[in-house]
Amino acid sequence: MSEFLIDGGVRLEGSIGVQTSKNALLPIICGALLVEGEVVLKNVAPYLDVENLLDIVKRCDVKIEHEFGAVVLDASSAKPSLIPSALSKQLRASILLLGAFVGRFRHARVTFPGGCEIGLRPIDLHLNALRELGVIIEENHGIINCDASNLRGGVVMLDFASVGATENIILASVLGAEEVTILNAAREPEIVDLSNFLNRCGANIVGAGTNEIVIKPVKKLFPIEYEPIKDRIVGCTYLLAGAITHGNIEVRGVKYAQNISFLKKLCQSGCQLNIKSDTITLKSPKTFQTVDMIETNVYPAFPTDLQSPFVALLSIIKGVCIVRENVFESRFKYVPELIKMGAKIKVKNNVALIEGVEKLSGAEVWATDLRGGAGLILAALCANGYTTIHNANHILRGYSNLAENLGSLGARIKYK
Ligand code: EPZ
Repeated sequence: MSEFLIDGGVRLEGSIGVQTSKNALLPIICGALLVEGEVVLKNVAPYLDVENLLDIVKRCDVKIEHEFGAVVLDASSAKPSLIPSALSKQLRASILLLGAFVGRFRHARVTFPGGCEIGLRPIDLHLNALRELGVIIEENHGIINCDASNLRGGVVMLDFASVGATENIILASVLGAEEVTILNAAREPEIVDLSNFLNRCGANIVGAGTNEIVIKPVKKLFPIEYEPIKDRIVGCTYLLAGAITHGNIEVRGVKYAQNISFLKKLCQSGCQLNIKSDTITLKSPKTFQTVDMIETNVYPAFPTDLQSPFVALLSIIKGVCIVRENVFESRFKYVPELIKMGAKIKVKNNVALIEGVEKLSGAEVWATDLRGGAGLILAALCANGYTTIHNANHILRGYSNLAENLGSLGARIKYK
């Protein structure tokens, strides 16, 4: 049982850099399974989810070495081993092995994935898409068996622009037999990064970043060195840490173009932003203003992953703000914990009504999931007195060296 201990009320000041993106790294690691030879991923931050996926991939006979922050993966002798359910339950991204195995070996046996408990999180879109590409899928006792010996091309129209389903179709198709077109594809920057990585290895993917992606199959992928994009969610969480503590901070590695919906709301709250190519400087106002209703949705709308961190800020803005969560049905689980810290929030179905209070106060709280936990960290940074955040493991999944990083900006935070 790990925890963060935070003595709140310190204005954050200084400059901080953002690490590589967790949600870009996870599909790219699965993509490395399609390559015969050494893939070097540079600047890999030690997120718990990434470490867990590397452990899983090792069990498929992928050789893995860590060298000065880089991870070297060699999948030349990889096998599509069945991963024990206890491991794949640790992270949602384990489902991406399905596409990688189908693409490389034409068969796969995987167990159902786990991940943050933020909703039902079914995988029907992933499985239906593969079925449309000729994969025969049987589900028995929690194991998904895929026979892709007749893998074919075609047009796959997603009912919802799912990030994971889009990634799985790409992974299954780059070494396929025929051209695949994905309609209503997810447009997240992490999809673009997966496509850039695979294209650098020799794949032929066009249209990533739009809702129509075309994958023309190639025979083989070649080893490369690659540095994934920076983590937009971590970058924006740091900006919020500056804002909520009435601080003045510079965040390096956060791009305006990837965060427009979020940055608009931050400006509306009264924060002053100075935006350079990939550095944003934030000056927090003396008095915040309420923001218009926030609606989370698929990229480029306001990201669901920043919903709880932003609610932490709204909880100290005088007046009433409304947030509607449109992506995951259980993403307000952290609210009772924020209420323990003095926040006034009412939740009905997928809508939260936040009535700002003057000050939050330190309390003993429990992280319910990764981003909900990040919201509690932010609340604790501005609260009066001490906060203990239990279940810190949830937070480590997507924020690495958080105590050191926030500490470098002046926060009094310990991890133990
Ligand atoms: C990715 O999850 C991210 N995870 C999530 O990050 C992020 O919140 C989410 O995209 C949305 O941006 C990774 O990249 C590893 P989806 P994913 O498939 O792929 C429903 C974080 O904190 N759905 O786009 O699982 C699903 O239930 C996290 O870093 C189906 O119904 O997201 C959800 O309501 C958590 N059937 C919605 O679609 C399916 O087969 C969006 O899910 C698949 C999804």
